[in-house]
Amino acid sequence: MQNRTNFATKLGVILATVGSSVGLGNIWRFPFEAGRNGGSAFILIYVGCVLLLGIPCILAEFLVGRRSHANPVEAFGKLAPRTPWYLVGLMGIFTGFCINGFYCVVTGWTFSYFLTSLRGSFFEDGTDYSRFFTEFSTGTWQPILWAVLAMLAVHWVVSRGVRKGIEMSGRILMPVLFLLLLVLGVRGLFMPGAAEGLRFLFMPDFSGVTATTVLSALGQAFFSLSVGMGALLTYSSYFSDEVSLEKTAYQVAGLDTLVAILAGIVVFPAVFSFGIQPSAGPGLVFVTMPEVFAGMPLSNLWSSLFYLLLAIAALTSSVSLHEAVVAFISEHFELSRRKASLFVLMIVVCMGALCSLSIGVLGKYTLGGRNFFDMLDFLTSAFLLPFGGLLTTLFVGWKLGPASLQEELSSHGRYRVRLIKVYLFLIRFVAPICILAIFLFNLLM
Ligand code: PHE
Repeated sequence: MQNRTNFATKLGVILATVGSSVGLGNIWRFPFEAGRNGGSAFILIYVGCVLLLGIPCILAEFLVGRRSHANPVEAFGKLAPRTPWYLVGLMGIFTGFCINGFYCVVTGWTFSYFLTSLRGSFFEDGTDYSRFFTEFSTGTWQPILWAVLAMLAVHWVVSRGVRKGIEMSGRILMPVLFLLLLVLGVRGLFMPGAAEGLRFLFMPDFSGVTATTVLSALGQAFFSLSVGMGALLTYSSYFSDEVSLEKTAYQVAGLDTLVAILAGIVVFPAVFSFGIQPSAGPGLVFVTMPEVFAGMPLSNLWSSLFYLLLAIAALTSSVSLHEAVVAFISEHFELSRRKASLFVLMIVVCMGALCSLSIGVLGKYTLGGRNFFDMLDFLTSAFLLPFGGLLTTLFVGWKLGPASLQEELSSHGRYRVRLIKVYLFLIRFVAPICILAIFLFNLLM
């Protein structure tokens, strides 16, 4: 295979990888899933899923990526030649297209809301934000054009390559993201509804917990961590041996969870301050937040900062979704990075257009009550990502086995890994059994 590059610095590794994980999943999806599933109890289950299932899956993906230094399909093929394991990688590529399909639409929305906030007129008296969002998101051309614009930005970053594109964008954008989040979080804590918002987030009430809550939390954890489709695998294939996989896994899981909780602190105090229902669903940050901003002094400023935060988060995650697929296509078909990325862009834009239209003019075509957009969202987070995680842990735990785990986690003896037995147990038994149990429980209930 051709010479592959690595990320240049350790900081670059962390910022790029956290950039993949921290995304719309944390700031758009987490608050509405938490709101829909009763708040704090969901969050506790979510954190449990991250610790017991998310971290072992991240470690397993990192291991496959760095050990093979290859794209998702060839990674499995290289580590287990002449076996069907490469299909796990192929499933990841399919999942990547599916997520990208709806992700680019929401990324487009964030771009549009950011620019609309910058222009003063968004906060003129009497604007009905729910109507505004419905009219905008169900429109035919506008949302598609925004999605295309978002994908062009992603294409630009990915075409510049691993160091100049992905690593550089993480190094510039992630510090900005954390700063914005901090400013907005502090603002949230000083809202009149802060106490109620924080109670909703942190006082567990298990009365409403069902099997679906657990499946939602599991899906949310996988989606938010970017685990189960080969995005982290692809990034870790650019890690050098100096990177400690264990440390990086904790940093990614820790920062990702922190950002989700901070996003909750930005959104819920504001929501309660204005007497809005926390269970508003996907429109939460596009309908409720503008309403909240409209009632605040300096509406344009706060709103612009908030949507800039969302846009940055969305962009760096989109880059990783795109990269996993581009790495496979460019390496497998021996195409240049730019050509492969252009090809992926075209497919994603077509899927994005269908997703966007499925909210609007194609709204009457549904399957089990779900339009194409909701179907892709549900299929990927509730099924494909956990299933990908399940297969990857089985692969690492049983096919590669303890010696590879020890070798790779210790970077060939460079680092001491104290919890190796715990990781082996989690990867071999806990993660696969729990994921399977949650699937079965939901099928039978
Ligand atoms: N983790 C990203 C987010 O939270 C989404 C994502 C999922 C990115 C899977 C890559 C792979 O928004």
